[in-house]
Amino acid sequence: MPPETEQPNVYPLSWHRETAKMEEIWASSQRDQWDPLKLPWDTFDPSSYTWEQREAIAYWWTLLSVFDASAPPVFAEALIKTYEVHEEDAVRRCFFSVTRDEQMHEQMCGLSITKLLEHPDPLTYEPKTELGKRLQKNTKWLYFNGGRYWSGYKKAVPRYSLAILFSSFLMGEIAAATIFHQMAAGAKEPVYQAAFRNIGRDEGRHMAICMSLMERDYPKLDVSERSLITKQIRAGYLFLSAVLFEPPMEFWDLPEDFIPAQREGEAIARAAGFFIPEYEQKKENWRSAMLNLKGVLDRYNIPFPAIPEVGITGEEISDIDMDDIIPVF
Ligand SMILES: [Fe+2]
Ligand SMILES: [Fe+2]
Repeated sequence: MPPETEQPNVYPLSWHRETAKMEEIWASSQRDQWDPLKLPWDTFDPSSYTWEQREAIAYWWTLLSVFDASAPPVFAEALIKTYEVHEEDAVRRCFFSVTRDEQMHEQMCGLSITKLLEHPDPLTYEPKTELGKRLQKNTKWLYFNGGRYWSGYKKAVPRYSLAILFSSFLMGEIAAATIFHQMAAGAKEPVYQAAFRNIGRDEGRHMAICMSLMERDYPKLDVSERSLITKQIRAGYLFLSAVLFEPPMEFWDLPEDFIPAQREGEAIARAAGFFIPEYEQKKENWRSAMLNLKGVLDRYNIPFPAIPEVGITGEEISDIDMDDIIPVF
């Protein structure tokens, strides 16, 4: 016989089936697969928009891609972890499906930006309008900020259990599912209606994956993990606010003219028929995503952080920096 294989060995030679819900989610991910290239692009004519409108809509896709272009490597890393810890078969498949879905979302961002700008890269694009110049400056700041969390994330993955990683994923998924359904309903272009419908459905599945893992693992949590989750939720709020609400300046390193430029871009995109929820609507979305999550955490006696920005009281969490961030969607 060969020597014993040292454990944990990265590959499990086992296909245990424990969480039935995961099998259902995997099956629906197979059914729901979509391809951004196969959307009705022939109905989409960027030249029917002004350059200002094109740059404003492309900016929104750029903002989304700061999150969705980092999601494939982030979930790929989490997928590896499910193998390292010999997760059950369906959990590995579900993480594989999230990685794949996020790659589709990233492709969608890229296709949209490339068609709108006639250039495949919003950082090296040469803006054609004054607004475009200001939005590109925003893009550079977003890119810089988003780039700060990868090394922290890589350190966090081996340190935290999947249960903790999921807590912050979940919040992103809840809010993302809501915002994309609204954007699908409000979009004028068939290609965007279809894209947001698909993305919203994917995010809903990601939410279900997180939920079933929490249901499986949270009853077994130890006390030290509870406070880590509370902190993660606050960190997730700060990080994801940039796309789902507005970036909090005490956390995001951004110049003062960032939010005014972003608001102006959004107003132009909205007026051109690209639906983006208004400030109050985003705030309400964010608040109800938090309250949803709070309902879940309450069941397991995990304290919820205070989120005064959307009127939620709870435990004060103040010492968050980029190194603490795990969340993505
Ligand atoms: Fe996504
Ligand atoms: Fe997601």
